[in-house]
Amino acid sequence: MELVEVDVAIVGAGGAGLRAAIALVEKDPTLRIALISKVYPMRSHTCAAEGGAAGVVKPDDSFDLHFDDTVGGGDWLSDQDCVEYFVHEAPKELMQLEHWGCPWNREADGSVAVRPFGGMKKQRTWFAADKSGFHILHTLFQTTLQFPTITRFDEYYALDLLVEDGRCQGLTAMEMRSGMIKQFHAKSVIIAGGGAGRMFPFSTNGAIKTGDGMAMAYRAGVPLKDMEFVQYHPTGLPNTGSLLTEACRGEGGVLLNKNGRRYLQDYGMGPETPLGKPQLKTMELGPRDRVSQAYWHELQKGNTVTTPWGECVMLDMRHLGEKYIDERLPLVRELGIAYLGVDIVKDAIPIRPVVHYMMGGISTNTKAATPLPGLFAAGECACVSLNGANRLGSNSLVELLVFGKSAALSAIEHIKGLPAPNRAALEVKAKESQARVRELFSRTDGNESMSGLRKEMMDTMEKNAGLYREENGLREAVAKIAELRQRYQKVMLHDKSNVFNTDLFQVLELGSMLDCAEALTVSALARKESRGAHQRLDYVQRDDQNFLRHSMAYYQGLDAPRIDYLDVVITKSPPGVRDYSGDHK
Ligand code: FUM
Repeated sequence: MELVEVDVAIVGAGGAGLRAAIALVEKDPTLRIALISKVYPMRSHTCAAEGGAAGVVKPDDSFDLHFDDTVGGGDWLSDQDCVEYFVHEAPKELMQLEHWGCPWNREADGSVAVRPFGGMKKQRTWFAADKSGFHILHTLFQTTLQFPTITRFDEYYALDLLVEDGRCQGLTAMEMRSGMIKQFHAKSVIIAGGGAGRMFPFSTNGAIKTGDGMAMAYRAGVPLKDMEFVQYHPTGLPNTGSLLTEACRGEGGVLLNKNGRRYLQDYGMGPETPLGKPQLKTMELGPRDRVSQAYWHELQKGNTVTTPWGECVMLDMRHLGEKYIDERLPLVRELGIAYLGVDIVKDAIPIRPVVHYMMGGISTNTKAATPLPGLFAAGECACVSLNGANRLGSNSLVELLVFGKSAALSAIEHIKGLPAPNRAALEVKAKESQARVRELFSRTDGNESMSGLRKEMMDTMEKNAGLYREENGLREAVAKIAELRQRYQKVMLHDKSNVFNTDLFQVLELGSMLDCAEALTVSALARKESRGAHQRLDYVQRDDQNFLRHSMAYYQGLDAPRIDYLDVVITKSPPGVRDYSGDHK
């Protein structure tokens, strides 16, 4: 088997992976770095982020206020030492992007412009129109191009971690265009492979977000933390699930029910204010969990609008005017016209909540280290415990910068003084990984189809693990996912070729999603309280006495994961009441 020997291997070339690569090379230009990704870097999902990235920059703002918004927004499940570190690093990272060429919007006086965002009680979201993710990704990508020690392995599918002597020492990955499996021996490995939203049928996530990185770490014995917390973004296009950025509301868009009422005033998010001045009250700028949950209540009350794409509420931005919309929200206008035939300048647009982000993921500490020595993780695939039970919009683009860099610095620390790798032992592990793939090719008696199992998984997740959950539905989901994981052992490949075998990659991705779905549903069943994005109709209160702790799901093969718990780090903000009835400034 071909061997690639490097110092650090990074899995995933989106925002976190690219930021990690730059930090590695800046700290030590002699390091050999492999950047492994199943898509070209500019096709990573970071590209799809629209609204912006949060960091304190205005004189009326402070680190303490960003801290309070993040901790309260996360319903006190965030580790507060992590949040403290994050809020201090955030502006530095955003300024660093500026120096690398990111075209942030400007105020008239030339200073960086910020816009309001949900759950942020001060304006601190830096933006580049409504294409912030694209510009951030592009800035990072073009910066990596100047460093010859970063070797890219584009369109490689990562398979398994190589764990030997109790530490991670590399991985296997398949070159997609040839079907050849290669072993990467690396002293440190950083996973930056994104989330797993595609286990749900209706999602803002690109098709690539199938939890491969999470599942790879999980199978290697690293716990998945807080997997039950799945974020619904309040405003997705009802047919495609495409994101209509929170910036629509940050810039002044309002949400209306079928009676034309700004219904959020009925859900503890402040009194109504005159049209055109919504940024002065929380209302549409409530946190995502609350705003999405309000939609569900409107649905139960029969207050939603029936459209050809299902039940919706209306997002109205007409009062912003064409000039302002074209300057601040050009992509949103384009999406509305292209996918729904609705021009937001002329009409309100139907929207509904859509799966957007996973708060949970590979368990890491504030230094982006997992419990497995030599393995680090950053970005959506990781759970560093910044976001708690509900992430605030615009914290994640900064999270991947701050912790992508942390992962790199920790990876370098880990390398110091390591003994030479035991190549022979690693090769044995790599061959086991190769055998796992060969076994898929050799199946002749399988009677299960990838697409059939995937549909059953998605339907189960949508029905039983969505915005609101309860015991019976979750039990049904746990049983169904366990059944699907068994049946997955009988999936047949229809395409047995080597060149760009998309049948194979979809089967592997399904395996990753099923592993993540099991960790999610079992963790959700065990959490008998409502907190942030995890809302249970049978346990409607937050229960700090029993559940102010992180769930930790440990892989046990085809058996259900073992769930353990880890205390939340509280430094200065004891659990309190989330109050969104006040002003946004
Ligand atoms: O709505 C948005 O632009 C999404 C931002 C985010 O998820 O942070």
